[in-house]
Amino acid sequence: MAGFPTVRLRRLRGSEAVRRLAQETRLSPSSFVYPLFVTEAEGAATPIEPMPGCYQLPVSALADEAREVASLRIPAVLLFGLPNEKDGVGTQAYAPTGVVQEAVRAIKAAVPGLAVVTDVCLCEYTDHGHCGILDGATVDNDATLELLAKAAVSHAEAGADVVAPSAMMDGQVAAIRSALDASGFEDTPVMAYASKYASAFYGPFRVAADSSPQVGDRRGYQMDPANARMAMRELEQDAAEGADILMVKPALAYLDVLRQAREAFPHPLAAYNVSGEYSMIKAAGQLGWLDEGRVAMEVLTAIRRAGADILITYFAKDVARWLQREE
Ligand code: PBG
Repeated sequence: MAGFPTVRLRRLRGSEAVRRLAQETRLSPSSFVYPLFVTEAEGAATPIEPMPGCYQLPVSALADEAREVASLRIPAVLLFGLPNEKDGVGTQAYAPTGVVQEAVRAIKAAVPGLAVVTDVCLCEYTDHGHCGILDGATVDNDATLELLAKAAVSHAEAGADVVAPSAMMDGQVAAIRSALDASGFEDTPVMAYASKYASAFYGPFRVAADSSPQVGDRRGYQMDPANARMAMRELEQDAAEGADILMVKPALAYLDVLRQAREAFPHPLAAYNVSGEYSMIKAAGQLGWLDEGRVAMEVLTAIRRAGADILITYFAKDVARWLQREE
């Protein structure tokens, strides 16, 4: 094998143009999904303190927001709802006129070509803040399935393009798939939050979505961050249940899991660059300790390099703008 001085790896790093040619992983807005928090409360957009640049938006603001996202060539948004009323069984999660259902209608009416993905979970809609309904102190898996299925069908009826179950109940993909099929939505894809960890990186999101569990935590259903083999079992289950897109969440601390998922499954693979990953970079950027833009691009490139096709990120609009400037 030839070595130095015949081989000089720096030859491909000598100029911007050659570096561009040699680049293995490229960021493009086409892989981005931009999450939106939609509130049923009327009035102005409310800034989310731990997530600078993100807002709780009233339904009336969504048409403009959707046009902005589409103009940046981002193909999809992911919706989370903040209902006015919560109860023990998360009624507003599957109400035909719930906040997410209305949000889907508003976005599809304004920008039909923008794909709308909906988060399917109960935690934003239950007064106890858990992702399913409670039986005593534990979340009742099987009783929750029916409600998640109802929520998914109500999203599809409102016009959602993709539904994304995130409750980490066993059997949720199968339950949703069969309910969608029975309701005439056999062509609506399921993006499964398949390998979702019980992560402290969700902290800012729980402020944004007002969805912290009032008692206990989510470790009874979300995965232990120490486990990678278990992630493969979760992914296998969701694939077997008919998931069209598989997700690993969070992204940055789980790049090994993403890589393994990439090698084991041919499905499109999504990575969720979650709220805490965003907040850390924003905060350090505001303090002048990091170059926010460069760090964000580096992190998203690394998540792509690890194997993700789809990047769900609060940086989507910023990075789409930065990429435009580079061209
Ligand atoms: C649950 C859900 C959560 C996130 C997405 N869907 C919160 C949780 O499981 O506690 C977190 C996303 C983020 O932190 O950006 N509906």
